[in-house]
Amino acid sequence: MRRLFGTAWWLAALILSQLSGPAIAGPSFDPALPRIETREGRHALIVDGEPFLILGAQANNSSNYPAMLPDVWPVIEALHANTLEIPIAWEQVEPVEGRFDFSYLDTLVAQARERDIRIVLLWFATWKNTSASYAPGWVKTDTERFPRMITKDGTAHYALSPHGSETLAADKRAFIRLMEHIREIDPDNTIIMVQPQNEVGSYRSPRDYSPEANRLFEDAVPEALARLEGRSGTWSEVYGPIADQAFNSWYVARYIDEIAAAGQAVKDLPMYCNAALSGPFDDPVPEGLASGGPNWNVIDIWKAAAPHVDFVAPDIYTRDHRTYVEYLRLYSRPDNPLMVPETGNAADYARFFWTALGKNAIGFAPFGMDATRYYNYPLGAPGLDEQTIEAFAAKYRAFAPMARDWARISLEHPTWGVAKADDNETQSTVMGRWKISALFGLPQFGEPEWDWLEWEPPAFADQPVGGAVVAQLGPDEFLIAGDYLRLRFALADPAEGESSQILSAEEGTYVDGEWRMKRRWNGDQIDYGFNFTRQPLFLRVKLGSYR
Ligand code: DGJ
Repeated sequence: MRRLFGTAWWLAALILSQLSGPAIAGPSFDPALPRIETREGRHALIVDGEPFLILGAQANNSSNYPAMLPDVWPVIEALHANTLEIPIAWEQVEPVEGRFDFSYLDTLVAQARERDIRIVLLWFATWKNTSASYAPGWVKTDTERFPRMITKDGTAHYALSPHGSETLAADKRAFIRLMEHIREIDPDNTIIMVQPQNEVGSYRSPRDYSPEANRLFEDAVPEALARLEGRSGTWSEVYGPIADQAFNSWYVARYIDEIAAAGQAVKDLPMYCNAALSGPFDDPVPEGLASGGPNWNVIDIWKAAAPHVDFVAPDIYTRDHRTYVEYLRLYSRPDNPLMVPETGNAADYARFFWTALGKNAIGFAPFGMDATRYYNYPLGAPGLDEQTIEAFAAKYRAFAPMARDWARISLEHPTWGVAKADDNETQSTVMGRWKISALFGLPQFGEPEWDWLEWEPPAFADQPVGGAVVAQLGPDEFLIAGDYLRLRFALADPAEGESSQILSAEEGTYVDGEWRMKRRWNGDQIDYGFNFTRQPLFLRVKLGSYR
């Protein structure tokens, strides 16, 4: 985990390392390693020394075998994705204690490299959707050495306890071996990020009620949390109704931090943890959520407990616009880059790509994107037909050639994203002196209030499609992209007699950091706003005003 700030960070690190010897630089110091960069509260994932936008897709849970990869790549390619998120399981690499087999990883990395696809590796180990299902048999069956949590009524819970020191030691040992193998076979950093564990925590029992855990629960909260909350006391005193959840979050996060730190000491890749989410508008009920995971209400606890975890990330499986947007808001913070490592793969989720980018997301990935014929409907799509893939692919196709340019722009400039809401209503924002409005369900020509022309709404008008992202490049200059919507710019607060005008609107793309114009939009193409249809494209727009 290297959260480095500013352009000249590596120069500074180099100078410091000269001054103070190797202790600062560390054995794996390497400016070419992927890392998160943060500037003035905005973030970028840096890969090969340059910003990189993850146009991602996650494979199904059991696609982590060489024999399955031929069913994975065609979907990744059809999507125009640049990154595959895929599991590697503890049970698969250490089926017998102390005996490791990384042949799957060798195949995966070689095949990804051939295709110029980057990998985000998901370490399914102590926790996978909170359960121990991906732990090796020798862990699952030895509850003495690898204890389960104990429920309030004294029975064994399905989840491994975060207080199991042998479990932590064994998981950490395996993870270190994994990272050593990565260091050995992947000098080019095909693997750009690692997710240690998957959707951690526990359902139904908000914490371990074993005697040892109960004793810890009666202690005062750690100093870091007392500072954070501005008061000290026991867990119950400081956290009241969510004390069990807060307690479990601290210990699960500390457990994962130890694993992440040990892995990063081998190869310092960015690491993140994904969250199974509880409803963002309801008071969290610890018994009813994945207690201990980085749910939105305990992000601060996670930040304090797990400094080696670069960020926490929401797995978003709601189609409700308001809820989706709220999750994006909760996880995009100056101290937490937004990434959506999982979202439903049905077409109606695709429009939230726009909102995520508007919140400076470093990546986005629909889940279950392979041809192994498993579909997590009703969470996601009932099948991956061409239209479903195209809902994501059209966007990725537009962004793929300039994904790094977008990531740089997003690091350096304010952005706003919008997706069609459930009521199709117009949405707007103000950037500088400009009010930007997003209108949905309109034809490309004319005004909705015209009553001298009969018109039918376009076929997409009642579909959950459409959105856009806007980057403010200068006071009166914007880069915009979108699909199935109309974007309008107007002066937010015009002076008496002041009107706005479009000075230029260039369609184009970035090539090697330089804007390349394809044509200028004018006449019908701009008279009624900027209209985007099926295939997203980029416009660079200069605005002005006159009196
Ligand atoms: C979220 C998990 O993180 C995924 O691995 C998967 O189980 C989905 N839920 C459901 O398909």
